[in-house]
Amino acid sequence: MNALSLLSRLPEAAQTPLGAEVYFGLTKIHKTLSPWLFYDDEGSRLFERITELDEYYPTRTERDIFAEYGDDILEAAAGDFRLQMIELGAGTATKTGLLLEAAVRRQGSVLYEPMDVSSTALEEATIRIEERLPQVTVLPRVADYTDGLSASAQEEGHRRLVLYIGSSMGNFEPDDRLQLLKDIRRQLSEGDTLLLGVDLVKPESVLIPAYDDSSGITAEFNLNVLRRINRELGANFNLDCFVHRAVWNRAESRIEMHLESTVAQQVSIPGLEIEVRFRDGETIHTENSYKFTPTGVLDLLAKSGFHSEKRWYDERKWFGVFLAVVP
Ligand code: AVI
Repeated sequence: MNALSLLSRLPEAAQTPLGAEVYFGLTKIHKTLSPWLFYDDEGSRLFERITELDEYYPTRTERDIFAEYGDDILEAAAGDFRLQMIELGAGTATKTGLLLEAAVRRQGSVLYEPMDVSSTALEEATIRIEERLPQVTVLPRVADYTDGLSASAQEEGHRRLVLYIGSSMGNFEPDDRLQLLKDIRRQLSEGDTLLLGVDLVKPESVLIPAYDDSSGITAEFNLNVLRRINRELGANFNLDCFVHRAVWNRAESRIEMHLESTVAQQVSIPGLEIEVRFRDGETIHTENSYKFTPTGVLDLLAKSGFHSEKRWYDERKWFGVFLAVVP
C-alpha cells in the first residue's frame, strides 16, 4: 500500500492539517504536537499577552534595538536606493512601526506588505498603521512565506527589505530553518536585504522564567492546544490532568515546552477514532524555541546564500538583529 492510499484510509478529520498533526503526533512513542497548533484565536491572544510580560524579554529587547538603531538599520539596507518593506509572519506588526517610521523619515513614504496566515491579525495591523502613519501604504497579504514573496509587488527602482523578526525562526528545526532561508533567498534579487531578529543564548535563570512566567500565561498558552483539540476534534482532554513544563536543553541550545500528564490516563479523540494512553509523568513535546550564537547566525546566513552586512544588539547581548544582503 502506498502512502496516499494509506492516508485515504484514515478518518476524514485525520486528512486535514490539524487532524494529521494530532493523529501522527500523539500515536508516536515520544508524543509531539507542532507549535503552529498554538495559534487559534485564543492562542494568538495569549501570545500577545506573553509579549507584554516582564519575564518575556525578547519582544521588549528587540523593540529597544529598533528604537535605538532604526535609522541606522534603514540606512544600511537602503544605501542609495529607495526601499519597499515586506514582513513575514507579521501578526499584528506591533514592533514594525518603529522601522516604518525610520523609513518615512528617510524617504518620505514607503510601501509595506505584511504577510501572515491570520487575516484577523493583518486587519488589525493595517488599521493601526494606516491610522498612525499615513505616509505608509499597507498592502496586507494572507500568504505562507515559503512562496508568497514571489507574488509581492515590485516597485520600479526599489529594493526590497524583508523583515523576519521576533525570533520566529527559532521555532523551526535546524534543517527546516535552513530551507526556509534558502526559500526566501531564492525569491529575492541582487541588492535586496533580509533583516533577521534572533534570540541569543543567555543564562538559564533568564530563559526559564521567560517560558514559565509567574502569572501562568505561558502555561495557559501551552494548555490551550489541548482545548483546541477538544473543540475541533471532539477530544476529552481534562486540562486539570496536565501541567506546563519549560526545560532548557543546553546540548541542543533550545527551550523545550512540554505538557506533562499528572496521572496515568486515557484520552479519546473521536474525530480521529483513536484512544491515546498516557503514563503518569509522560509528556507531549509541544515546542522548541532555539537560542542562537552570533556566529551560528552568520554561518546560517552564509549557508543560505546571503552576505552578512551588519548587526545590532542590545547592551546585554540578549537579542540580535542581523542584516543580510543578496549578493
Ligand atoms: C513565536 N515564538 C518566537 C515564541 C518563542 O519565544 O519561541 C513563542 C513562544 N512560546 C512560548 N512563549 C513564546
